[in-house]
Order: sequence, then structure tokens, then C-alpha cells
Amino acid sequence: METIRQVDEMQLRALALRDTGKRIAFVPTMGYLHEGHLSLVRAARQYADVVVLSIFVNPTQFGVGEDFESYPRNLERDSAMAADAGVDIIFAPETADMYPRNYATTVRVDGITETLCGESRPGHFDGVTTVVSKLFGIVQPHAALFGMKDFQQLAVVRRMTLDLNIPVEIVGMPIVREADGLAMSSRNKYLSSEMRQQALALSDSIHNAIQAAQQGETDVATIMDMVKSRIKGGQDARIDYVEICHDSTLKPITRIDEHSVLLVAVFFGSTRLIDNHYLLAPMD
Ligand code: PAF
Repeated sequence: METIRQVDEMQLRALALRDTGKRIAFVPTMGYLHEGHLSLVRAARQYADVVVLSIFVNPTQFGVGEDFESYPRNLERDSAMAADAGVDIIFAPETADMYPRNYATTVRVDGITETLCGESRPGHFDGVTTVVSKLFGIVQPHAALFGMKDFQQLAVVRRMTLDLNIPVEIVGMPIVREADGLAMSSRNKYLSSEMRQQALALSDSIHNAIQAAQQGETDVATIMDMVKSRIKGGQDARIDYVEICHDSTLKPITRIDEHSVLLVAVFFGSTRLIDNHYLLAPMD
């Protein structure tokens, strides 16, 4: 496995690979890898000859007072995990190389960025779409794989790719969970053991909601009440949002159908966790 730190070098390498007819699959990450990222890497192999994984804690997608400074970083640990999972190239640029002094461009998707995480984290998705477009330009992938835990991010990246005619196949992959159901996230590391226990309310309440929907409950308000009261049981839990939305518009709905996705964001202390699931699909 090779590690490339320079933007120019990565782009030249990607263009040279394409010139020799190689297909590139790309897994963008902010590092502190876990099994969720590694499942994307393994799946990426099916889409290409060369798998590139980026590690870049992107400052432009963090708001004031968020965890940019404290976000866990450990390139040595990540490199060992990436090599084991079959990554060919790690691209780990420096911030000054990604956003040099006269940098002046933002990529912005309207509409679906204004609800859910976009409402609680203003500007977050502008940072995501900007860095993802830059990474696509640098890594030149044929396919890019994203986890469905960031359901809204996946929808926003799909919208951007379509709107800007970017020739990259966007692949969404199922959430990977711990044995007890907690969705894997680099931020789980922040949780005390007490809070981690309380955080199981996310996957538990989603599980209960799926059961109710599958047993014929179609009223969104009833299911949302059930989810909220389960989550509020935890003394440190503070709900950011609980919404049931249409999977592509992300607009709230009132009746459950096969497009209905339950999305939750909850603070445990200062740690904000998200989770989601389709209501009429078996829990992953
Ligand atoms: O999902 C993430 O880790 C980030 O939002 C991404 C896509 C790597 C962009 O910084």
C-alpha cells in the first residue's frame, strides 16, 4: 500500500492509472477507521482495479464549537487497518494543500441540505459537497462508496453528482453495527460507558419502529412518539431531531410507505450521534 500526501501527486497518479485503463474506486473518510469504513473498502474492490481511501478531517464541514480540533486522528493506526482491508493507495493531504491561501470556491446543493443535519449544522453540507467535489477531481474515481449511516450526506452527494454531471458512480452501503446494535462511528469513542449504554436507545427505538411499521402501523406521528419516548428515557439524551422522511426528497411524510426512512440525531452529553433505517425493510 502506498501513502500519498500531495494533492498534485495524487491527481497525476490517478490520471496515469486511468491512462493505462485501470478503474479506480474511492472511499472518502475522515479517518479513525472502523469496520464501517473497512466494509466500504472491501466492497470497493468489486468496482475497480485500484482502491483509494482518503483520510482528511475537512475543516469546512465543522461548525463553530464542533469537534474539529478533537476529532480523533491516527494515521499509523488507520494505515495498518487500511492495508489489511486491501486499500492500494491512502491519500492523506494537508489542509494547506487542499485549501491554499487564495482558495475561494464553495459547492452548494440547495433544498435537501436545509433540513435534518443541515438545519442543526448550518454550512455543514456546503463543506461536504465542496470537499467531495475536490476529492473527485483529485482522485478521478469511476466509483465512490459512502456509508448509509450518513443518509442525508449520501442523498446530497447523489444530487450534486447528478446536477453537475460528474461521471462518478455513487454507491451507498448499509450501516455496520456493533454486536449490540449501536451504529459504528468514529465519534463513539467519545462516549463514556454509561452514555454508550444509553446510546443503544437509537438502534432499539429504530428496531421498535420497524416492527410497528411492519405490523401495519402507518401513522408517522404514532411511530415518532414511540421513538422519542424510548430515546428520552436516557438521562443524558437530548434529541436533535427524529423525523420520518421520503428517501429521495428528505421531506417529512405523514403515512408510512416503502420510501419511508426514520432518521434520528441525538446528543449524549456533547457527542452527537445519528442513525437511520428504512421502516419497511429488515433491520441491517
Ligand atoms: O463522511 C465523512 O467521513 C465525510 O463527510 C466525507 C465524506 C469524508 C467528507 O469529508
